Amino acid sequence: MVSTNCSGTNAFRYGTMKDWVINLTIVLADGQIIKTRRRPRKTSAGYNLTSLFVGAEGTLGIVTEVTLKLAVIPKETGVAVVSFASIADAASAASKLIRSGISLAAIELMDDVQMRIINRHGSEAVRKIQWDENPSLFLKFSGPTKEGVDGDISQVRNIIESNNPQKYFFANNKDEESSLWAARKEALWTMTSLKPEGHTIWSTDVAVPISRLAEIVDISKKEGKELGIFASVVGHVGDGNFHEALMYDAKDPALHASVEKAIHRMMDRALEMEGTVSGEHAIGMGKMHCLVNELGPDTIHTMKLVKQALDPKWIMNPGKVFTVPEDSNVSPAPRHMGF
Ligand SMILES: *[C@@H]1O[C@H](CO)[C@@H](O)[C@H](O)[C@H]1NC(C)=O
Ligand SMILES: *[C@@H]1O[C@H](CO)[C@@H](O)[C@H](O)[C@H]1NC(C)=O
Ligand SMILES: *[C@@H]1O[C@H](CO)[C@@H](O)[C@H](O)[C@H]1NC(C)=O
Repeated sequence: MVSTNCSGTNAFRYGTMKDWVINLTIVLADGQIIKTRRRPRKTSAGYNLTSLFVGAEGTLGIVTEVTLKLAVIPKETGVAVVSFASIADAASAASKLIRSGISLAAIELMDDVQMRIINRHGSEAVRKIQWDENPSLFLKFSGPTKEGVDGDISQVRNIIESNNPQKYFFANNKDEESSLWAARKEALWTMTSLKPEGHTIWSTDVAVPISRLAEIVDISKKEGKELGIFASVVGHVGDGNFHEALMYDAKDPALHASVEKAIHRMMDRALEMEGTVSGEHAIGMGKMHCLVNELGPDTIHTMKLVKQALDPKWIMNPGKVFTVPEDSNVSPAPRHMGF
C-alpha cells in the first residue's frame, strides 16, 4: 500500500496512503538502513524523504517498517444506494452531493453491468435485495451524532431530484448497512467468479477531474461493448477515479491486441482530460510508456536521476516504472498478463 500510494473507497473522506504515513524505515540498494523522519506532525527540516518512498513502487528501496497515523472511528454511520437512468445522471448527482457539504464518508459508482452481476452472483444477503440494474451510487455517511447522519441522509432526495433517480435503498440498521455496502465489496469477486477457464481479466484504472468522469466512463464502456467482450465499470466517483475490467480470451491474439489498444486509448483520453493514467494501481510494467506521456521527458529524466543516485545498479524492483538501461547487468522480471 505504501509503495503504490494506495487508496480505495475511504480515500474520499480520508485521503490516500501518503496522508497517513508518518515515517518509514527503508533498506537502500547499498544495504544501508535509514529512517525517514521524526514524529511531529509539522516539520520543514530538509527534503521529505517519506514522500519520496511513498508511491515509488519499491524502485528506490525496500520499505521494512511503517509508522501510520490513526483516525477516530466515526460513532454513527449510514448507507444509501440510488440508481439512475444513466452514468451521466449518476455522475452529476455525485458532484451535487459532494458540493452540498453533507457528511459523505464514501461515494462509489457501479455500472449497469456490475449491478446485473451482483443480482445474480452476490452473496445470499446481497442477492436478496433485488437491485435495480441501472448505474448506481453507493453512499456512506458518518458523523458524531445519529441526528446529524439521519439529517444528511434525508437531504439526499432533494439534492439529486433533477438527476433522474430511479430507485432508493436506505439501510435502517447496522445489518442492512453491511448488506447494502457488501454489494460494493463483492464487486471484484462476483466478476472473477464469472471468469471462464482460460479467460483473463484485465483490470485497469485512471482518474480524471470529476466534471469529466461521466464522459470518459461512457466512451470507455462503448468501446468495451464494440469489442464484444464483457466490460464492467466500478468507480471511486468522489475522486474521479474508476476501474474498468475487461474479461476476454487471451489466447486469441487479435482480441488481445484490440483490448490493449482500447486500454491505451482510455489512458490517452484521461490525459487529454487533465487526468492521470493511474489513480491508484500505479505504473508497474503495463503503464511505463503512459507515464512518459503524462509527465514529459524532463520530469521523467529527473525521476531517473533520483533512481540512478539511490540505485545505480538498478537492483530495486527492476523493470518497473522505468525500463532497465541496456548497459546494466540486471534482467527485468518476466511480464505477466491479467491478475
Ligand atoms: C517514527 O514515528 C514513530 C511514531 O511517532 C516514532 O515512535 C519513531 O521514533 C519514529 N521513527 C523515527 C526514526 O524517527
Ligand atoms: C511528508 O510526506 C509524507 C508522505 O507523503 C506526508 O504524510 C507528510 O505529511 C509530509 N510531511 C511534510 C512535513 O510535508
Ligand atoms: C499520493 O496520492 C495522492 C492522491 O492521489 C497524490 O495527491 C499524491 O501526490 C500522491 N503522493 C505520492 C507520494 O505519490
